[in-house]
This record gives sequence, structure tokens and C-alpha cells, in this order.
Amino acid sequence: MTATQLIAAIKKKKELQGIDDAVVERELQNVLTQHPSWNDDLSKPRSAIYALILKAVRASLRRKYGLFRTELLPPDLSPQELLSRHSSTKERLPFYQAMYQSIFNITGKPATILDLGCGLNPLSLPFMELKKVNYFAYDISKSEVDVLNKFFNSLPKNSLWKGKAQILDITDVEKVLGLPIADICFLFKVTDIVDRGHGHKRSEELMKAIPSHWVIVSFPTHTMSGKPMTAPRRKWMEWMCARLGWSYATFEFENEIVYVVRKS
Ligand SMILES: C[S@@+](CC[C@H](N)C(=O)[O-])C[C@H]1O[C@@H](n2cnc3c(N)ncnc32)[C@H](O)[C@@H]1O
Repeated sequence: MTATQLIAAIKKKKELQGIDDAVVERELQNVLTQHPSWNDDLSKPRSAIYALILKAVRASLRRKYGLFRTELLPPDLSPQELLSRHSSTKERLPFYQAMYQSIFNITGKPATILDLGCGLNPLSLPFMELKKVNYFAYDISKSEVDVLNKFFNSLPKNSLWKGKAQILDITDVEKVLGLPIADICFLFKVTDIVDRGHGHKRSEELMKAIPSHWVIVSFPTHTMSGKPMTAPRRKWMEWMCARLGWSYATFEFENEIVYVVRKS
């Protein structure tokens, strides 16, 4: 089986269909590097190793990218309907407006926004009440990126809202360093995924690399089973800010805590 055929087979699972081929290929190479003997069997027809490879790559993709959605996004839904298809954005619908108001009261209204690991969050642009904005959105998932570009491209030609979504693995710090300079960067509910199994070093490197003074980081305040967390504040964020001389403000909404961080 060729790498292309393996990638196609890995992506047969619904929740993995939206991931870019290059990301799947990189994960496949990681798995083959961890299990060098599996490489030898790849030339044999109908090798039992295929099933192991598929399982290992899929598990790794799910773990790394937090792919919990099991359906593809229907292409013809309105932005409002789409927002209710993603758990993070759905939960925020009752407080989106208040959340952006609280953030912009501190940062001022941004003219350029970066949104990393954006999911469908850029569709909440109308809640931001901005007259004019350049919105740069990045996610690992192709299906999210396609939906977002459809939304941005549907804005009237004379609209003062401009936006573009692109596929990006935000753990690639070199690429993050090269992103457009922005007034503000959203990192909503994504640092836990970036950090998984690596302490908080990756999030710290990411935040340092982001070409924006203001970084808005959010976290869930409920566990996966829906119970409120006993300690929703993220002490590591607060210690990191103190250590790096960054200032921050924090506020909580129903099921999300937001850190508004000013990098020095
Ligand atoms: C829990 S969702 C949060 C989405 C959005 N930020 C929000 O709060 O509405 C996590 C998102 O991060 C994306 N993601 C996970 N790992 C990523 C990576 N390494 N690079 C870019 N995006 C990633 C997933 O595809 C998913 O859309």
C-alpha cells in the first residue's frame, strides 16, 4: 500500500475527513518512526500491520487535535446555525456579546485579529460589533477552514470586514512567528490540546511567538462530564505571566474562563 492509499484509508473515519492530508502524512511518518519494523511489512500485500497502522495514526490524530466532532459540517447552514454545531461556539451563544465587550474594554477594539485553533469561532464576528476588521483564522481542520472561507467570501465586496482562513498546525512555532502582525490573538479552548502530555511548555512557546501584544486565552470551567471544576483558574497561566512580566485580567462566564494577557 502506498502512503497516499494509507492516508485515504485513515481518513475513512468521519471525524478525520476534514484533516489536511499533509497533517495525516506527518502523523503516519511519526508512527512509522516509532515502529520501524512496521515499515518492512508495508510492501507485503494485505499485511496485518495495516490495521495496526490505521489504529495508531487515528488514535494519535484524535488525541493530538482533540477531534471530538463526529459529523461533517453541512455546507448550506447559516453562520448562526453553524455556530451551534460546534460545542465551544454553541456554549458561548448566550454570552458571546458580553465576552467580546469585556475583552475589548481592556484591549480596545482591534483592527486585525488572529484566531488560532479557531474552529468555527470566526463566525461569531457579528457579536464583536466591529466596524472594520481584518480577520486571520487558522485551524488544522480543512472542513472548518472551508466553511470559514465560504463565510468570509460571502461578505459583500464593499464590506469593511475582511477575513481569510488557512490550514495551520499551531504547534509549528516558526510558522506562527511569520503570521501577520495583529492587534489581538484569540487562543480559545485550544492550549489544553496543544499541551497534551507536554506540561505547558508548548503553550508558552506559542504565546511568545504570536505576533500580537494581546493574547486572549480561554479554558473550559466544566469537566468533560459537565460538572463544574472546583478550581477553574489556571495557576500555570498566572505563574507564567508573573515569570515573564506579562500582565493579565481574567473573567468567567457560564462555562469558560478567559485570560486577557498583555505581553510586555
Ligand atoms: C476545542 S476546539 C476550540 C475551537 C475554537 N477555538 C473555539 O473555542 O470556539 C479546538 C480546535 O483546535 C483545533 N486544533 C487542534 N489542534 C490544533 C493544532 N495543532 N493546530 C491548529 N488547530 C488545532 C481543532 O481542529 C479544533 O477546531
